Amino acid sequence: DFHQKPRTLALASDGAFGKFDRKQLQRGLQVYNEVCSACHSLRLVSFRDIAALGYNEGQVKSFAAAHEVPSIDPDTGEPATRPGLPKDAFPSPYPNETAARAANNNALPPDLSLITKAREGGAPYVYSLLTGFRNPETYRNEKGEALPADSKPGTGLHFNPWFANLNLAMAPPLTSEGQVTYGPGNPKPTVDQMAKDVSAFLVWTAEPKLENRRAVGWGALGFLLIFTVLTYLSYRQIWADKK
Ligand code: HEM
Repeated sequence: DFHQKPRTLALASDGAFGKFDRKQLQRGLQVYNEVCSACHSLRLVSFRDIAALGYNEGQVKSFAAAHEVPSIDPDTGEPATRPGLPKDAFPSPYPNETAARAANNNALPPDLSLITKAREGGAPYVYSLLTGFRNPETYRNEKGEALPADSKPGTGLHFNPWFANLNLAMAPPLTSEGQVTYGPGNPKPTVDQMAKDVSAFLVWTAEPKLENRRAVGWGALGFLLIFTVLTYLSYRQIWADKK
């Protein structure tokens, strides 16, 4: 078997007390925006949602305006594009599925909004996939076996033992350090760091209200605990004189 289990990825948002690392999410947005968005949409995320990552209204507006979104030409009724508005979702770079497949060796780049929920392995899987492209000629699995000829990638496919089918139509998107320039106070943009950051960002796109959900959960448990104590005390009170 040449398929690999996801590598470990520790994120600030993990666990029942986890909180998003907003600096990391900002870096991940940058990686998505400068690299992944060339092929993948985030149709469930609107530009204005990035306000939650610490951007102000002006920044959201100019970020949105820097993207072209699909629209209809008001005069001709033909499909056209216009600069994005905060309400618009992160668009697909392709006008339709046929065009998307034509540009990608007949494979369809999936929308990434929910990818960390949709794929077994979640964010660690995405991280592993991004850092998991290997040379099919020299690759050896844990048992030291070489890849059989019939499992080698065909034309336009790329070997990645973390991908369920071993060979996928996506070429390695993150290939060199400094592909994305991070602002001061951030870690070095190594391939590994960029892969971690964009994986963290895709946890947020899939569940932006994760922190609220946990806060409500803990609040509910706290309420039940107080209620339990009150119930016990009133039980003691009610039965106090019945011995
Ligand atoms: C598939 C992430 C950049 C083209 C995928 C998958 C993920 C992903 C998670 C799904 C794998 C699966 O089905 O389990 C990313 C990220 C990127 C990125 C995070 C940026 C760092 C790109 C770019 C292109 C591209 C730039 C095009 C040049 C594709 C294609 C597939 C795919 C065609 C479908 C592969 C197949 O089913 O064989 N990507 N991607 N991706 N991606 Fe990307």
